[in-house]
Amino acid sequence: MGKRVLIIGGAGFIGTNLSEHLIKSNMEVFCFDMSVPAKKVEGVRYICGDFFDDYSLMEALEGIDYVVHALSTVNPGNSNEKYLQGYERDFIQTTKLCKMIVDKKIRMIFLSSGGTVYGNQEIQPISEDALPRPINHYGNVKLCIENTIRTFNYQAHTKILIARISNPYGPGQDFNKGVGFIDAALKKTIKEEKIEIWGDGNNIRDYIYIDDVCRMLMVLFTYNGEFDTFNLSSNVGTSQRDIIEMLQEMGLKPQVEYLSARSVDAKKIILNNGRIMSVHKNALIPIRDGLREYYDWLLQKKI
Ligand SMILES: NC(=O)c1ccc[n+]([C@@H]2O[C@H](COP(=O)([O-])OP(=O)(O)OC[C@H]3O[C@@H](n4cnc5c(N)ncnc54)[C@H](O)[C@@H]3O)[C@@H](O)[C@H]2O)c1
Repeated sequence: MGKRVLIIGGAGFIGTNLSEHLIKSNMEVFCFDMSVPAKKVEGVRYICGDFFDDYSLMEALEGIDYVVHALSTVNPGNSNEKYLQGYERDFIQTTKLCKMIVDKKIRMIFLSSGGTVYGNQEIQPISEDALPRPINHYGNVKLCIENTIRTFNYQAHTKILIARISNPYGPGQDFNKGVGFIDAALKKTIKEEKIEIWGDGNNIRDYIYIDDVCRMLMVLFTYNGEFDTFNLSSNVGTSQRDIIEMLQEMGLKPQVEYLSARSVDAKKIILNNGRIMSVHKNALIPIRDGLREYYDWLLQKKI
């Protein structure tokens, strides 16, 4: 058997997709989550536990080679109301987790948010060296955790990695959790419901198919170079209006309702992916192909 990977929050969107990729690469995968996914991934061992319970967490780390931290209790949409929870719980518990994995000499990848840590930036695509200026608390909680990780890396000579993921989409996503414009646009179009767009639809994001994110994360498992922070992104900017047009090109009939812009949303975020692409050599799935693939998956699953 290969290395043993524990995915904290492993029953979620990214965790489930990553589990499938890791199992195919002969890794031994353990999913630590409060819930079990509706559809279990064959070969994955599911551990039911609460991230905020130190004892359960310590126990789950026994014998593990790699941890993927794939959990957040706040999201961009709710972080203005739930921000204290982000700082008091997610930040503090992740700091404790860092100490645990450093003591046990376990490698870790933390899933941060490329879409929110940078805030509004002049120079695009945004590189990892840009000064982060989050405009919502979700992004700032992520940045606080990132800084704690970098401090551990410096003090303990470790290499905990930070993956700043842009806007992933694909099978297993649920926009009701607060993120996922493409997921919402496709599902609402299929159900002939109105797609709500906050603002004029010209906000630009960097969308990336979930399989590409998983393949990039897999490369980071064995990365031993100088960097600790990576944008996982497509390097391509697409507006919500562009997505709607692409759905129309596919022969679909999306219905859109424009609402007032939200203060938590930056206007434009395109992430430079040069650093990750220097170690991940595969071509990425173009957005039109990804939309088609995800749409076909949704139809097949009758979602
Ligand atoms: N999905 C995105 O668009 C996106 C983009 C960038 C970064 N991220 C980050 O990646 C990570 C994973 O995102 P996701 O979309 O897969 O999230 P998700 O909500 O689909 O999954 C998170 C999982 O964490 C579990 N969980 C929540 N509280 C828990 C607790 N106390 N103990 C144990 N398990 C608990 C949930 O049951 C869920 O299965 C998060 O940290 C998120 O901030 C996500």
